[in-house]
Amino acid sequence: MLKRLSSNTINTTIKRSSPKPHHLTPKQPLKMSTRSSTATGKLALISSLTTHAETHLLKSNPSLKTALSASLSAGLPPITISPLQGQYLALQCKLMGAKTVLEIGTLGGYSTLWFASTGAHVTSIEINPKHRDVAMQNIASAGKDVESRVEVILGAALDVMPKLREEGRKFDFVFLDADWDEQFEYFAEAVKLTRKGGAIYVDNVVRELFEGGDAEGRETLVSRVGGMKGMGVSATMISTVSGWKKDPGEMVDGFLLAVVE
Ligand code: DHB
Ligand code: MG
Repeated sequence: MLKRLSSNTINTTIKRSSPKPHHLTPKQPLKMSTRSSTATGKLALISSLTTHAETHLLKSNPSLKTALSASLSAGLPPITISPLQGQYLALQCKLMGAKTVLEIGTLGGYSTLWFASTGAHVTSIEINPKHRDVAMQNIASAGKDVESRVEVILGAALDVMPKLREEGRKFDFVFLDADWDEQFEYFAEAVKLTRKGGAIYVDNVVRELFEGGDAEGRETLVSRVGGMKGMGVSATMISTVSGWKKDPGEMVDGFLLAVVE
């Protein structure tokens, strides 16, 4: 496992240069954000901007809310995608007309429920039996329609994905959100399971670049996917800034998006 640093450069910078650390609290009046011109000042206001966008753009969805609170109560790690990211991924599925979604890393089923909210059939793979149980409960709580369109497979993705391929399964949209050390191995399997024109999203790619050490001196998901250029894979990196994570060192992250041609 990669060592994930709880404080990194961004975190340290904020602590050192911000004279008022309480600006990091989400209670900061939104108007202040327009006056913030430094990168540090902007990052300090991200929590309130994120809440602003969630409040105005997202519909209330009790099953998503319940899934989050039930997952936390069950002691699952608080590492889900954010609500705005869930909506983003769901919108991407809708734009593509995705009917089948494959997810690696179910956790408590929060992102699974976002994908299911599009009407797609979702296959999600989870290695941890406790996480799978919590996810099944959250999916059942969302009602029969959702439950009938979601399958959660217990197992290691690198065992399960080849089996799905042997069964001839193909997916319109794949979301990889599991062990950072195995991102490329999942990606290589995902390419074989994605239909032509389908999309593969990988979570946490920017944090892995920050926290995994000098990106120029090692192989990264980005460099390895880059090595597949000309092999029917086009990709880009989408950097994100989100106040969903309360630790400033975790606020800057991003997806890798690949389209299989
Ligand atoms: C971690 C894992 C994630 O998938 C994520 O989105 C954020 C953090 C982690 O293991 O720290
Ligand atoms: Mg993640």
